[in-house]
Amino acid sequence: MNNLGILLSGRGSNFEAIADNVAAGKLDANIAVVISNRADAGGIESARRRGLKALVVPSKGKPREQHDREVVAALREHQVDLVCLAGYMRLLSPWFVQQFPNRILNIHPALLPAFPGLEAQKQAVDYGVKVSGCTVHFVDTDLDHGAILVQKVVPVLDSDDEHALAARILEQEHIAYSEAIRMVLEGRFTVEGRRVVMKPGA
Ligand code: GAR
Repeated sequence: MNNLGILLSGRGSNFEAIADNVAAGKLDANIAVVISNRADAGGIESARRRGLKALVVPSKGKPREQHDREVVAALREHQVDLVCLAGYMRLLSPWFVQQFPNRILNIHPALLPAFPGLEAQKQAVDYGVKVSGCTVHFVDTDLDHGAILVQKVVPVLDSDDEHALAARILEQEHIAYSEAIRMVLEGRFTVEGRRVVMKPGA
C-alpha cells in the first residue's frame, strides 16, 4: 500500500516534483489526496490541474487539535499510508503524530539540527555558514526534530542572498524528497535511536 497524502500551505513545488516522479513511474506510489490549510495555496490549484484529489481544510480560528482531527479524517478516508509535509507551515499536534507512527515525513530547507523553524535559508546566510542544504526527516512531536532519512548539501556562495540560496536548495529538495519516500515505501532501513540505517544490500 503506497498511498501518499501530501499536506501543503503554499506554492507546492515539492509536491509537484513528487507528482512528476509518480507520473514518470520513478516512484511506485499513488498520490491519494493533497490537503492544504489555505485556500489560496498554489499547490492546491496545481493538484487539481493534475486531476488529483485536492482538499482545503481551513485552519484559521480553529484549535490545533480540532483542525488536525479533520485533516486525519480526510487522510484516513483516502486510505493514506504515508503523510508527506511539503511546505506545510503548521505544527502537528502530538495526537496527529501518534496516528501515523514513523509514517509522517517533512522536508526542511537546512541541514538539521542547524536552523530549524522559519526562514531557514535566511538564518543560514545571516549566520555565515559555508554549506547548507535540505533535510527529509520523520516527524515527531518536536519541531524539525525527528530521525533523518536524507540530507543534501548545498554550498553557500559569497554572492548568495537568502533567495539565491533558497532556489539552489530547492533544486536539491526536489531530488531528496522522492529519495526519502522511496526508502520508506521500500522499507530499506531500520531506525536505531535517532539513526536511520540502511539495510545491507540496499
Ligand atoms: C520548501 O523550501 C520547504 O523546505 C519549506 O517550505 C518550502 C515550500 O516550498 N518548508 C519549511 O520551511 C518547513 N519548515 P514548496 O511549497 O514550493 O514545496
